[in-house]
Amino acid sequence: MIEFSEKVCCSEVKVKVGRGVLGELDSIKGRKCVVHPKSLPLEVKGDLDITLEDGERGKDISNALSIVDKLLDAGFTRGDSLVAVGGGTVMDVAGFSASIFMRGLNLVNVPTTLLGMVDAGIGGKTGVNYGNAKNMIGTFYQPSLILDDLSFLDTLPEEELRRGLAEVIKYALVLDKELYDFLSLNSGAILRKDNDALERVISSSVKDKLAVVSEDERETKGIRIVLNFGHTIGHAIEAGSNFQVPHGLAISAGMVCEAKMAEELGYAEEGVVEDVLWLLHLFRLPISVEQLNSRVEVEKALSAMVKDKKRRGEEILMPFPTRIGNWRAVKIPLETLEGLAKQCLSNGGGP
Ligand SMILES: NC(=O)c1ccc[n+]([C@@H]2O[C@H](COP(=O)([O-])OP(=O)(O)OC[C@H]3O[C@@H](n4cnc5c(N)ncnc54)[C@H](O)[C@@H]3O)[C@@H](O)[C@H]2O)c1
Repeated sequence: MIEFSEKVCCSEVKVKVGRGVLGELDSIKGRKCVVHPKSLPLEVKGDLDITLEDGERGKDISNALSIVDKLLDAGFTRGDSLVAVGGGTVMDVAGFSASIFMRGLNLVNVPTTLLGMVDAGIGGKTGVNYGNAKNMIGTFYQPSLILDDLSFLDTLPEEELRRGLAEVIKYALVLDKELYDFLSLNSGAILRKDNDALERVISSSVKDKLAVVSEDERETKGIRIVLNFGHTIGHAIEAGSNFQVPHGLAISAGMVCEAKMAEELGYAEEGVVEDVLWLLHLFRLPISVEQLNSRVEVEKALSAMVKDKKRRGEEILMPFPTRIGNWRAVKIPLETLEGLAKQCLSNGGGP
């Protein structure tokens, strides 16, 4: 088991990574409400058990309010805890409910997907979908404890595992050269879900993300933006495919395009693109739009891109890799970005 903690603004976030860490729930004082997806059979039982629809449907704001209703009915108070057991969708909606219930109920995240462990469960962003808008309503609210129990990954399909690995690779490329080296030497063990390899990969990813979040929790200092590497083009690809391309695969191809832009504009050292391609290839992740096996409408993708939240007037702030494990924020004129994105998306984005 690997254990560490990080102070984020005003709260201490404790993390435990390993097989069987779920047992730590017993040490939590007060009553526990466990929120989990219907499809996930659970050994842990709380004083109150709430099940959610799987996937994005479960993230509707009505579910957050229904959780609040059930907490009120059961007489929960601020000394009690909400335990979110599930993928990113469950943690997003449960975290939001915890943040608004009596201005904040102790939150424990127990991610059950790799993406949840290395990304969604960390950093304090909660969100629900409102109408047709994804993550339109949300809060920043840190969990006090994150339990990454590797036994959940036993049942996770390889496809879901690889989608989470795209985010792990992101940390390696822009923040963590040691992780890059580990990934390139241990891809077989990781894809086989070897316990030690996964423990190492997950704990490094969590540390990398928490370190960034602790410096810039609310995305106001231009540091947290590094976590968006691959996401400007990735989101454009998702939109251009009418959301048929899964997020992890879209950002995989997005990282290739953005690394190419960084190299072309002279911010990345020569060879960075090859290093990006090599690692994605090792984990059988798509390195081009062609490999996504989905129709991506370029114009639709580009028009979604110019509406990006990170746009400031006619410029957009992009986190570019400079060399493996390093990055810098660069303001790019929208026109330049559009031109380069079009080039990358139109010719299939291949090497
Ligand atoms: N808050 C954040 O910072 C943040 C960051 C990244 C993503 N997200 C959000 O996370 C969501 C995506 O998360 P996700 O990829 O975990 O998706 P998810 O929660 O939809 O889970 C993916 C699928 O895996 C299944 N599953 C979960 N655990 C399993 C297990 N142990 N074994 C077998 N199947 C299992 C689920 O039932 C679901 O069908 C999106 O809504 C996204 O917006 C949030």
